[in-house]
Amino acid sequence: MTTTQPSAIDDPTKVTQDLVELGQQTYLPVYAPREMILDHGEGSRVWDIDGNEYIDLGTGISVNNLGHCNPDMIRVAVAQMKKLWHTSNIYFTEPPIRLAADLTKVSFADRVFFSNSGAEANEAAIKLARKFSSVKHPPQKREIITFKGSFHGRTLTTVTATAQPKYHEGFEPLPGGFTYCDFNDEEAITQLISEKTCAVMLEPIQGEGGITPAQPGFLKLLRKLCDQYEALLIFDEIQCGMGRTGKLFAHEWEGVLPDIMTLAKALGGGLPIGAMLTTEKVAQTLKVGDHGSTFGGNPVATALAAEALRQLRTPTLMKNVQQQGEYLKSRLNALNAELGKFKEIRGLGLMIGVELQGEWIGQAKNITEVCRRHGVLILQAGPNVLRFLPPLTITKEELDLGMDRFEATVKRFQPSSS
Ligand SMILES: Cc1ncc(COP(=O)(O)O)c(C=O)c1O
Repeated sequence: MTTTQPSAIDDPTKVTQDLVELGQQTYLPVYAPREMILDHGEGSRVWDIDGNEYIDLGTGISVNNLGHCNPDMIRVAVAQMKKLWHTSNIYFTEPPIRLAADLTKVSFADRVFFSNSGAEANEAAIKLARKFSSVKHPPQKREIITFKGSFHGRTLTTVTATAQPKYHEGFEPLPGGFTYCDFNDEEAITQLISEKTCAVMLEPIQGEGGITPAQPGFLKLLRKLCDQYEALLIFDEIQCGMGRTGKLFAHEWEGVLPDIMTLAKALGGGLPIGAMLTTEKVAQTLKVGDHGSTFGGNPVATALAAEALRQLRTPTLMKNVQQQGEYLKSRLNALNAELGKFKEIRGLGLMIGVELQGEWIGQAKNITEVCRRHGVLILQAGPNVLRFLPPLTITKEELDLGMDRFEATVKRFQPSSS
């Protein structure tokens, strides 16, 4: 194959263009990366190879919750990398044992399975729910209820759990045994759940679906229904967990405990790792060989995750999430009082969605792109919602700088059809 090689280091713009083109030619065409090459980061800022600075209000989709190149994380990663990188689960190493123990201390769970991504953590949760049911209940009780607007991953099973047809099209036949319910619809779930239900799975705050929190009382109702029908309750906290909402786990706001919880994204502070947590009772239905992963529990990723967890448990950090979250909402409200383009500003802590209205409907992608060109990285959640997921460590000054750039950009924004 012929490719364009990066050239002319004395002409940085040319290098960017060449690398972008090379990426566009060689990547599987499933992404549409912005046309810049990010190079390095520090705290709430990243820079591209041309030296342009960006305030990062997206944290690589809720991953770099402790900022870029957090100095303590670097120290821990380097120390572990100098000792041991990988062994597989044929052997114990210290970092995953310590992380599993820490996770059980800070959650409802007694047992932890480590994976490498969110989809794999959810895959493990689905397999566990089915296995639990297969051991305890008759064969007709295998159905899993998920919610419209959800996102649970891209493997064939987790994409099926994801109740959004746009992610299914062309990938049929999909695995069976999933039923979809309207999110936050108490009557619908009460009607839908039955003796056939083996699990109900949801994100306490839907992320990709548009930053939509479960309404007060909804998680409690699900807990009650699951207990009534002997079904397991699974919380996918892959995006909303790890301090994002101002508590370590989003379900803590409602005081409702699941039987299984999945984590990934910010768990490793930037390195790929996922986890599925559960109770002793549920875990005991699996036996040696029922599930596994070569990389799961990798010593470097788990050492970093333990350090990330240590930092996330600092009360001042959680207070910062709540304070900066309120401040971000107040700035968005003030801007909307002037522009009137936001239908709703919603979310918890530093997980905030802005639903667009009027002629801005469908413009989320264009807005994120013009913001990027003006030095602030934000995300979209579907075509109609702007998504703000800043580092939990962000200072008011950094947030102000990012929001000044955002405001200046959107005030000049002209909707386009592209
Ligand atoms: C709530 C939720 N679950 C699962 C996933 C899938 O995680 P991963 O991309 O690490 O497989 C995501 C990713 O965006 C997510 O937001």
